[in-house]
Amino acid sequence: MAMTEKFLTKSYGKRGPQAVKAHYDAWADSYDAEIAENGYATPARCAAALAAMGLAKAAPILDLGCGTGLSGAALSAEGFTVIDGTDLSPGMLEKAEKRGLYRQLFPGRPDGALPPGPYQAICAVGVISPGAAPISMLTTALDLLPAGGALVMSLNDHGLADASYTDGIAAVHGHGPARLIFEEYGAHLPGINLNSTVYVFEKQ
Ligand SMILES: C[S@@+](CC[C@H](N)C(=O)[O-])C[C@H]1O[C@@H](n2cnc3c(N)ncnc32)[C@H](O)[C@@H]1O
Repeated sequence: MAMTEKFLTKSYGKRGPQAVKAHYDAWADSYDAEIAENGYATPARCAAALAAMGLAKAAPILDLGCGTGLSGAALSAEGFTVIDGTDLSPGMLEKAEKRGLYRQLFPGRPDGALPPGPYQAICAVGVISPGAAPISMLTTALDLLPAGGALVMSLNDHGLADASYTDGIAAVHGHGPARLIFEEYGAHLPGINLNSTVYVFEKQ
């Protein structure tokens, strides 16, 4: 029997948008199965955190780094109805499109620029992380939100051990453009013993 190539453990060292795009394009066909096999818990935790803050179900949400759409599916399962997605990887976006749950999908830009919106919330599950987007994406995303808008993101144990990410988060909620209103450490990919912190920021 042919073995399916595994990508998960190779996901945390890549740098730069071209390498990230190539990695996820190559993974797109087997991503959902490999992630499910490892008990991917963070999309549901992020969607529940947004729902718990009372965000209206019809609020437009940008699923930033939507991948194959697992994060959008978690938002949809919480009852959110207006979800756009963007991703650097055309291969991942193609899978997301097939779910039929996104209002619009946008190719991600290597310079990190985002679709204009307007959005009431941005959801970045597993995206602002070593091996994916740099921490500067957090302020780019916050800039897109109106006052009172919400940004939910996760940072896995690799990111939590990387000072560039934790310092960037501290800078935002210490004296920056947003207030941290939720923070919870919990399961991310139990199959590889990896946890994550889910953060919700409210734009000031
Ligand atoms: C670990 S996957 C997470 C996908 C999805 N959010 C989920 O929870 O399954 C990370 C995704 O972020 C995308 N990504 C990384 N950097 C990005 C950027 N700068 N802009 C848009 N997407 C990006 C990758 O292409 C990949 O699909």
